[in-house]
Amino acid sequence: MRFVQVAGMLFIGAGVFGAVGVAMAQQKGPTDIIKARQELMKGFGASFKIVNDQLKTEAPDKAAIAEAVKKIADTGKDVGSRFPAGTGAEAGIKTRAKPEIWSQAADFKASADTFVAASAKYLQVVSAGNMDAIKGEAKSLGDACGGCHKKFRVPEEAPK
Ligand code: HEC
Repeated sequence: MRFVQVAGMLFIGAGVFGAVGVAMAQQKGPTDIIKARQELMKGFGASFKIVNDQLKTEAPDKAAIAEAVKKIADTGKDVGSRFPAGTGAEAGIKTRAKPEIWSQAADFKASADTFVAASAKYLQVVSAGNMDAIKGEAKSLGDACGGCHKKFRVPEEAPK
């Protein structure tokens, strides 16, 4: 076998191996997906708390509110796709995702879409800078979180 042929085969071999490695890295298991979305939700909670805490003060810090709302809007865009099939209770780790996420998939998607629209809209309101509107509209974003939780999240103290 000539050197060029051997080198060519090694090259192809490395290419295939590399492709498999990339595919494996992209394919996350249910545990990783569940943990990642719980982290996302915790981030939502922390950001929304910043907003509410600021709105309770005498002189709310608009920049801090804007930063928190932008984080919610940016990181929340794909919230609907964070619940692929197989990441419910059957995954075997603690999750508060209700089975209705999958049995009422269209309804779940609507809740996710409502939230994405609400967060984009609230970001606009915050960017416009009118404090009365910022205070008044915060509830619409909270309602979009709550609307999904009410239908699709197991309550914290769920009776067994
Ligand atoms: C489209 C549905 C949906 C939307 C919108 C949504 N959530 Fe959630 N949230 C869930 C589900 C489902 C869970 C349970 C996830 C799990 O345990 O796998 C959850 C969990 C949480 C948790 C608990 C995280 C943990 O594991 O400790 C917090 C906090 C939270 N959400 C806050 C928010 C806030 C704040 C918003 C709005 C800014 C929001 N969520 C928007 C569905 C949603």
